[in-house]
Formats: sequence, structure tokens, C-alpha cells
Amino acid sequence: MKSKDLLFIAGILAVLGFLYYLSISGKGVPPIPSDATHASVTTEADCLVCHGEGMRHPRKVQHPPKDQCFECHARGEAEK
Ligand code: HEC
Ligand code: HEC
Repeated sequence: MKSKDLLFIAGILAVLGFLYYLSISGKGVPPIPSDATHASVTTEADCLVCHGEGMRHPRKVQHPPKDQCFECHARGEAEK
């Protein structure tokens, strides 16, 4: 087997491991806060202005590598 294939398999295992961690961790996905800051943001690229690596409020390490924020994070219902 080529090392490229091994890397690919390792990547799949990492994703599966993360999903398993999510399923047993019992923590919900925090909703997007319904404050003025977040209400004005409509694209996922804009999220990373603050939540991207090295920015003001970076996400934690175990975050999914995907950038489709809205797939998991819903808008909060309550007004702040
Ligand atoms: C202008 C900077 C900024 C932008 C842009 C921004 N955020 Fe935030 N976000 C923050 C800050 C600062 C906090 C922490 C303050 C708080 O908890 O109210 C936060 C908190 C959050 C939280 C809750 C964290 C928790 O621990 O409960 C989520 C989820 C979140 N943001 C998602 C998003 C998403 C998705 C987007 C894009 C639609 C986005 N944010 C855009 C600054 C930003
Ligand atoms: C696969 C689902 C998923 C996707 C996609 C996702 N998140 Fe999250 N996010 C979570 C979960 C689950 C948590 C709670 C993690 C915890 O509490 O350990 C979380 C927590 C957060 C938090 C608060 C905790 C922290 O790590 O600072 C912020 C802010 C956040 N996400 C922003 C984003 C942004 C911005 C994007 C898009 C670039 C995004 N998320 C994409 C599942 C996701």
C-alpha cells in the first residue's frame, strides 16, 4: 500500500473518531448567539473573521475541519 493511501485511511479514521466523540460527549452544539454581532453575519467566510485560527475568538482544537458552520450551528431563538 502506498503511504498516500495510509494517510487517506488515517484521515477517515480521524473523522469517524471525531463523530464518535460527538455522539458520546453528550454536549449539544451551541447555537449561534442572537446578539447584534451575529445577526449581521450571513456568510460562513465572515464567521472566520472572528472564529478563524489566530483570530479574536478561535474555535477549539477538536472542532470539525469543515467550514459549513450552518450545518451544525443554528440561530438561537432567544433575544439577548
Ligand atoms: C465580529 C466577530 C464575530 C463574528 C463575525 C462571529 N462571531 Fe461568533 N462569537 C463572537 C464572540 C466574541 C463570541 C463569544 C461571546 C459570547 O459568548 O457571547 C461568539 C460566540 C459564538 C458562539 C457560541 C459559543 C459558545 O461557547 O456558546 C457560536 C456558536 C458562534 N459564535 C458561531 C458563529 C458563527 C456560526 C458565525 C458566522 C455566522 C459567527 N459566530 C460570527 C464573535 C464573532
Ligand atoms: C460538524 C458540526 C460542526 C460544524 C460544521 C461547526 N461546528 Fe462549531 N461546534 C460544534 C460543536 C459540537 C461544538 C461544541 C464543542 C464543545 O463544546 O466541545 C461547537 C462549538 C463552537 C463554538 C464555541 C466553542 C469553541 O470551540 O470556541 C464556536 C464559536 C463555533 N463552534 C463556531 C463555529 C464556526 C464559526 C463554524 C464554521 C467555520 C463551525 N463552528 C462549524 C459543531 C460544529
